[in-house]
Amino acid sequence: MGSAFFSVPRVHVVLLGSAAGGGFPQWNCWCPGCRLARTNPSAAHPRTQSSLAVSADGRRWFLCNASPDVREQLSLLQGETPDGMRHVPIEGVVLTDAELDHTLGLVLLRESGHLPVYATAAVTNILTTDSRLLPTTQAFSEVPVSTLAIGTATALRHRDGSPGGLSVEPFTVPADPPRFASRDEAGHTIGLIIRQEATGRACAFVPGCGGLDPELAARLGACDALFFDGTFWSDDELVALGVGRRTARQLDHLPVDGPDGSLERLAALPCRHRIYTHINNTNPMLIEGSAQRERVTRAGMMVGFDGFRLVL
Ligand code: MLT
Ligand code: MN
Ligand code: ZN
Repeated sequence: MGSAFFSVPRVHVVLLGSAAGGGFPQWNCWCPGCRLARTNPSAAHPRTQSSLAVSADGRRWFLCNASPDVREQLSLLQGETPDGMRHVPIEGVVLTDAELDHTLGLVLLRESGHLPVYATAAVTNILTTDSRLLPTTQAFSEVPVSTLAIGTATALRHRDGSPGGLSVEPFTVPADPPRFASRDEAGHTIGLIIRQEATGRACAFVPGCGGLDPELAARLGACDALFFDGTFWSDDELVALGVGRRTARQLDHLPVDGPDGSLERLAALPCRHRIYTHINNTNPMLIEGSAQRERVTRAGMMVGFDGFRLVL
């Protein structure tokens, strides 16, 4: 009884980490938000670094980005209690770029024995020659890399080779390569459409994005759910706080606010779920009840938080 019901494929999504690099609070930061997250966490909930988990069955998960907080993040994924001594609770890791906050988790998963990675050739090159995180992890585990091509859907596979029930299609987003990259190759920073071929349900994951033209907006608008770059509220956020010299746009993050900001444009999209993620600790929308939080909510969008779940 009920087996047909339980076998209906869905897109299960868990937002494992909703903060940008450094997390919230960031270890060395005492900006107003970080201060509140330490002194009154119910007014500014702490968040771990950017990562999303997706699954077609709610049991076998793929990570989208491997954050330095991956160890605690994996405890958010309900899996089966294994009979054996060792159990790897993820089937693979899909990467959107080679930034440290999205890839340091690879080396932390080095005990896996077998860790399939899905990445563009440009990301693989940076991980191989610049950060060296890929060969370092490969010294401990088998880490086969499946190459993602821009505009082409690649089927995810479970570690046992069976179909994972989801595909990932990368598209380029405006950004510079990581500052430690020795080359500027096309495909170094991508967004992903995670799609269930059986149902056509789709979720877009765009944790870093320096611009939003009509073509990209249309692509995102066609998805049932959208997780989008919410790094900075305003373009001059770091400069105004005295903690940085570069604007949000110079750092390749489209600010939420402003006439050309993301909020205005994402609010107009038809997606059923629109969630900000990769939120920097300086962003005032992290503060519960802030005017900025109200603006996001009134626009029909959500400020992502760790552990947020969706079933599409
Ligand atoms: C970014 O999101 O711009 C990068 O991850 C920056 C960093 O934290 O290194
Ligand atoms: Mn980042
Ligand atoms: Zn801070």
